[in-house]
Amino acid sequence: MIKKEDIDKIFDAVRIEEVVADHVSLKKRGVNLIGCCPFHNEKTPSFYVSPVKGIYKCFGCGKGGHAVNFIMELEKLSYPEALRALAKKYNIEIVEKELTPEESQFQSAKESLFVVSSFAQKHFSENLYNTDEGKSVGLGYFKERGLREDIIQRFQLGYSINHRTAFTDIAIATGYKIEYLVKSGLTIEYRNEPEPGTAQNANMAPPEARYVDRFWGRVMFPIHNKSGRVIAFGGRTLRTDKKTSKYVNSPETEIYHKSDVLYGLYQSKAAIAKEKFCFLVEGYLDVISLHQAGVENVVASSGTALTAGHIKEIQRLTNDITISFDGDKAGIDATIKSIDLLLEEGMNVKVLLFPDGDDPDSYSKKVSTEELKTFIKDKAQTFIAYKAEILTKDSQHDPLKKAEAIVSIVKSIALIPDAIYRSVYIRECSRIMEVDEQILLSELNKIRSKRFNEKNTGNPSQAKENNYQTNYTEEPVIEPKKENIAADAEYQERDIIRIMINYGDRIVKVPGEDEEGNATEAELTVAELIIHEIRHDNIVLENLVYNSVLNEFIQSLDTYQVIPNQKHFINHENVAICSLTVDLLSSPYHLSNWEQHDIFITFEEDVLKKSIYNAIYALKARKLEIMIQDNQKRLRENPPEEEMLTLMQTQQQLLEAKKIFNALLGRIVVK
Ligand code: CTP
Ligand code: MN
Repeated sequence: MIKKEDIDKIFDAVRIEEVVADHVSLKKRGVNLIGCCPFHNEKTPSFYVSPVKGIYKCFGCGKGGHAVNFIMELEKLSYPEALRALAKKYNIEIVEKELTPEESQFQSAKESLFVVSSFAQKHFSENLYNTDEGKSVGLGYFKERGLREDIIQRFQLGYSINHRTAFTDIAIATGYKIEYLVKSGLTIEYRNEPEPGTAQNANMAPPEARYVDRFWGRVMFPIHNKSGRVIAFGGRTLRTDKKTSKYVNSPETEIYHKSDVLYGLYQSKAAIAKEKFCFLVEGYLDVISLHQAGVENVVASSGTALTAGHIKEIQRLTNDITISFDGDKAGIDATIKSIDLLLEEGMNVKVLLFPDGDDPDSYSKKVSTEELKTFIKDKAQTFIAYKAEILTKDSQHDPLKKAEAIVSIVKSIALIPDAIYRSVYIRECSRIMEVDEQILLSELNKIRSKRFNEKNTGNPSQAKENNYQTNYTEEPVIEPKKENIAADAEYQERDIIRIMINYGDRIVKVPGEDEEGNATEAELTVAELIIHEIRHDNIVLENLVYNSVLNEFIQSLDTYQVIPNQKHFINHENVAICSLTVDLLSSPYHLSNWEQHDIFITFEEDVLKKSIYNAIYALKARKLEIMIQDNQKRLRENPPEEEMLTLMQTQQQLLEAKKIFNALLGRIVVK
């Protein structure tokens, strides 16, 4: 449990723009920052960060909140986990309240997996430095591969002792529960199954479980999540016999989802955002060697094929990617597949081939940092040049092979969501393959309309298999949410709360009377004025969230004569209030041009009083309208005569009142 004072300290220290910038590349736009939303796929930025207000808001998918929400949402952390992550970032020491045995039992299983994984990482690192076997075998291997001390430390490399239970024994002795060791995948549970044919006797003891390490006698590569916590491991054998598999990797666990995790992202994300370009390689050692060589914008999908989840992670930082997998058959196949997936997601894809026999690891050792960087930048080919080269290799003069290659390239181009990019690439294809552009264009159109039809005439299985669903959604159109003004006063209630939260503490002058009854001007806060008006006509806000906000204003004013500020609502423990506040502070008024946000505010402040009365009258007129409709409905139900009479009188009064408000509204609106 984190203490309240510490939570306050964290909230005071965090800067939303810094927290977001760890994950999204942001550009300045007026007083705000703008970038591509990390919560949904988008190519044009609609994700805004307001350092002044301490909030973020995406106008594409609607997500918004403060820094803690951001981390929770992005890294799928609980509230305390997110607070701990931010405390770590800002070097805030948090004193956790002692947990009762009961509380600690309920501590999330996920957190336990993080703790176990972190213990394992430290254990493997210690083996590397403090055991004879670790020093000679493990550290010896890393040195032989030419790794520097600082790099071994940065990637927290380690060694697992060549003994089947070395790790599990120590973990149990240290007090870790076997349940979590197994769940983390570090320990494997075996049960001796009863002999086949011998029926299990009820009195027989259940087969005894045996526990052994997943990793033993291997050099260890911890895999980190984006915030740097260890979530899994890869272990490389040092033996050369064919029987031992070269790598053993952690299985999927509650904290390790392979399709979303890129090896090296934690160590590389800052450089990727800075260089605005990501280098994608095949293996752990490629990532590490490139770091050592001074190229830090590099990740690997390590052990699994590239997925849309991986791409999403990269797209948070940049749209430009260069792939460089090994030159063997498997590497080429993976490259061809990855190209299509990346194009489909709207990324700019290049491919880099290393000189014969070299991979990023070996090549980085032969040249200087500068040479390496220039090589990566200058020698990367467009995906078209790459496919042309690979697909026509050794068969340049075979017209059939050439035709197949062209079709394959055009199929890739057809995946690109943006029409302009498609036409640029068609031109390049025409140049490289020496085919008329018009022919390529008509082929492109054929492919696209075929896929389009498949998608729309429901050949779903095929559409799905080929992942075509997303191909034809053009740029997402951002539409302001339509307010429901049919049967309730939702819109008007919301506007009142918007004004309260935005301007509650501003002073306005309103006509009043002094003690002797002379006309004078009274100074009121906006909150007081609105509360006065609402109480005057006994208006009840139907929307429960708006009503809670209003009540907080009322209570705070009645009890302490204090107006709760924006921060109070932004950081509110009630998530609905918190997200409402964020929405209102980034209201639809500046949807189209948030840059002019400040202009809008001054504009609205100039006419603040007018806006307040406008909103109040609009709310009252709406409430009247609803009463009128209810009344009418009752009238149509043919009530008893005496009720009919009152109803008709009421109707008359309501219509009169409505006329007045409409007149007031009309005046205010046109003025
Ligand atoms: N890999 C794996 N299982 C294997 C082989 C490979 O999971 N049996 C994954 C690992 O993530 C590895 C990557 O594929 O890092 C690339 O494989 P490879 O090139 O064989 O390994 P490197 O990491 O490059 O190691 P080395 O340079 O020692 O060959
Ligand atoms: Mn390799």
